[in-house]
Amino acid sequence: MLLMGNVKEPTPLVSINVVVDLGGQYLWVDCDRNYVSLSYTPARCNSAQCSLASSGACGTCNGPARPGCNNNTCSLFPENTVTRTATGGEVAQDVVSLQATNGKNPGPVVSIPRFLFTCGSTFLLEGLASGVQGMAGLGRGRIGLPSQFAAAFSFNRKFAVCLTSTTSANGVIFFGNSPYVMLPNIDISTSLIYTPLLINPVSTAGVFSQGEKSVEYFIGVKSIKVNEKSISLNTSLLSISSVTV
Ligand SMILES: *[C@@H]1O[C@H](CO)[C@@H](O)[C@H](O)[C@H]1NC(C)=O
Ligand SMILES: *[C@@H]1O[C@H](CO)[C@@H](O)[C@H](O)[C@H]1NC(C)=O
Repeated sequence: MLLMGNVKEPTPLVSINVVVDLGGQYLWVDCDRNYVSLSYTPARCNSAQCSLASSGACGTCNGPARPGCNNNTCSLFPENTVTRTATGGEVAQDVVSLQATNGKNPGPVVSIPRFLFTCGSTFLLEGLASGVQGMAGLGRGRIGLPSQFAAAFSFNRKFAVCLTSTTSANGVIFFGNSPYVMLPNIDISTSLIYTPLLINPVSTAGVFSQGEKSVEYFIGVKSIKVNEKSISLNTSLLSISSVTV
């Protein structure tokens, strides 16, 4: 759940559900349906926002003007990484709010007034959980959630994801430095095991330009064991190989 957009000041933000995409490039939201916001600002062509988003594309839209349809805006290719479908979408900014924490207790709701994201389309939601309005990309790119949160709140580009084991309880994502305290008062950050992250020199996105690196996180897997027993497999399949497209 993400708090986004401003409907009517000083009305609180609208809560939307998005799929968390660990290797996703950025936040994309369906702007075609149910996106009502007074604080929506499209990214104008050649602006600092377009450059941060690495978008040189400059587009027009046959009106009427609304979120996702404006003239003189740059665009990206938001992707449903479940169905591997992508489409063109306007780059924009809007308020995003989230609950602050000291790692232990919830703090106030804090806002980023100009969070960069991309407008997707309703059809791009096909194949995702019902009720969601987009995907939140936690990838290592410049406009991924970790980078934008780190820049806005001056913490490290670090995050921890705790998945729920039931469908009746929520999981949690901590952005920023530890501690990450879970009930009953256990700091899970002290028992984590670390491994270096690798950079894949070839983008894994549906649409990309030549030479673009993947924003996904890769680790160096040497073998796979189940119940302490090694699975027999061709280990050359575990290394990042060059991909020809
Ligand atoms: C974009 O400009 C064209 C041509 O001036 C105009 O017909 C169209 O309505 C404009 N679109 C928006 C979203 O303002
Ligand atoms: C392992 O996989 C690589 C890449 O697909 C292939 O070139 C190689 O022949 C395979 N080796 C064996 C022993 O099957």
